[in-house]
Amino acid sequence: MSSANGAPGRRYFIHTFGCQMNEADSRYIADRAASSGYEIATDPAAANVVVLNTCTVRDNAERRAYGRMAHFKALKTADPAMKLVVCGCLAEQDRDRMQSLVPHLDAVFGTSELVRLGDALAAWRPDFVDDEASESRAVLRPLGGAADCIADAYSHLRAFVTVQRGCSYYCTFCIVPHVRGRFDHRPMGDILAEVRVALAAGAREVTLVGQTVNAYRDGASGADFSDLLESVAALTGLERLTFVTSHPKDFTEKLARTLGAVPQLNPRLHLPVQSGSDALLRRMNRKYTVAQYEEKIAWLRAYAPGCVVTTDLIVAFPGESEADFEATLALCERIGFAQAFMFVYSPRRGTPAALWEQIPADVGGERLRRLADTVNRRMRGLHEGLVGSTVRALIQGPSRKDPTKLAAKTLENITVVVPDAGLSERELVARPWLEVRVDAGFTWGCTGTLRGIAERFAGRVSPVAEPVYDLLALR
Ligand code: SAM
Ligand code: F3S
Repeated sequence: MSSANGAPGRRYFIHTFGCQMNEADSRYIADRAASSGYEIATDPAAANVVVLNTCTVRDNAERRAYGRMAHFKALKTADPAMKLVVCGCLAEQDRDRMQSLVPHLDAVFGTSELVRLGDALAAWRPDFVDDEASESRAVLRPLGGAADCIADAYSHLRAFVTVQRGCSYYCTFCIVPHVRGRFDHRPMGDILAEVRVALAAGAREVTLVGQTVNAYRDGASGADFSDLLESVAALTGLERLTFVTSHPKDFTEKLARTLGAVPQLNPRLHLPVQSGSDALLRRMNRKYTVAQYEEKIAWLRAYAPGCVVTTDLIVAFPGESEADFEATLALCERIGFAQAFMFVYSPRRGTPAALWEQIPADVGGERLRRLADTVNRRMRGLHEGLVGSTVRALIQGPSRKDPTKLAAKTLENITVVVPDAGLSERELVARPWLEVRVDAGFTWGCTGTLRGIAERFAGRVSPVAEPVYDLLALR
C-alpha cells in the first residue's frame, strides 16, 4: 500500500474510553494522523501505531484501560516496531508510574499534551512529505464512530464541537478537574469556524460539548452560553443544535428562554442532578439545593414546554442514608427524567470523598437496581406514550442488534428502529431525516414503520411506504 505522495502506507488505530471530551480529543488525534499521511486501521493488529485514549472517571474505566494495555502486549511482541501510546485522563493521573506499571508502552501523553502526541505521530513517519493532498485529507475526511474514529457513511451527519475544556467546580467525587484542569473556554470565533466546516462537510446536527457548557464565556466579548447558542443557530445551513453537559448552578432563566425561543435547538436538556438529598448535594459540593434544581426545571417547563430532561445520578455516595436515597427516588418520580446515567459511587484517588467512610458495595448495587427500576419505568411510559404518533428522526445507520433494520434518533435523543424498506445507503445519506410512525414503546426506545424520508429536517417528505404513497397519489 502507498499513500498519495508515494510514501509507504502507515496505519494507526485509536481506541477511545469515556466521555465526549475524549471523543473530541480522539478526533483531533485522528486529524493530525491523517495530515501526517496515516491511514486509519480497523484492526489494531494491522496498525503501526495504536493509541489508547483513556478515562479514569470511575474505577471500571480505569481497569478496562489497563486490561487493554495488557492485551496489546501480544501485538508488541509480534511486531516490536509497532508503537503503543496511551493518552487521556488516566495517562494524566498515572503519568509518573504508568510506564513502570506497563513497560511495553512506547509513550504516555497527559491531557495537555495532545499537540505533542500529534507531533510524535508525524515524527514516527520521517518518510512523509507534507503536501496539499494530505492537508485536504485531514480536513475533508469525515471522522465518526465514537470509540475508534472509524467513519461510516452516516458519521458526518452529526458533528461534535468542543466549546470548553476542563472544569473548575471540584465536585468532591470527581477526578475531572484534577486531570483536565480548570475551565478553558474557546474563543467564540473558533467555535463558529469549526461549526461552519462541519456544516460544509454535511453535518445536520451539531452538538456543542464541554463538561459544563452553560458556564461558557467568550473571553473577548463576554458573550455567555445563550449568546453562543444564538450565534451558532444563525449559521447558514444549520438544521439542529444541541449541547452537553450543563451544570444546574449555571442554568439560568435566560437559557430556559433561549431553549424555548431558538427553533433549531433540540427539545432536550441534560442536567445532572446526582442526588435528591440536600445533605448529599452539600457533601458533593454541587452548589445547588434540590429546591433550586426543581425551580430551574420549572423555568424550563414554562419557557420550553416540550423539552425533555435527562440526568446523571450517583448512589451510595459516602454518608448516603436510606432516607437520602429515597429522596433521590422521589425526585426521579417528580421530574420523570427521559433518560438517566446511573452510577454507584466509585472512589477516585486524590478526591476528598475517597477519604470518607465508604458504603458497602452490596448496598450500592441494591440501590442502583432500585433506582434503575424507577427511572426505567418512567422512560418506558414516555416511549409508550409516543405510540401512534409520527416522529422525525436523524438516521444513525443499520441497527446494531439487527442490521436489516435502521436506527435513528429523535430530537429528544430517543432511539427509533424501523425495517429498512429497501432504501440504498446513498438515498438515506441524501435524505437522512426519517419520518416514522411509532408502533411500540420499550425502555430502550421505540419501534415503528418508516413512512418517508426528507432531505432537510423541515423539508418535504418523500413517501416510502405504500399507504402513504397511495394517499398522496390520490390527492
Ligand atoms: N460535567 C460532567 C457531566 O456533568 O456530565 C461530569 C463529568 S463525569 C464524566 C459524568 C458523570 O459521571 C457525572 O455527572 C457523575 O454522575 C459521574 N461520576 C463522576 N465521578 C464519579 C465517581 N467518582 N463515581 C461515580 N460516578 C461518577
Ligand atoms: Fe466533575 Fe463536577 Fe465538574 S462532576 S466535571 S467537577 S461539575
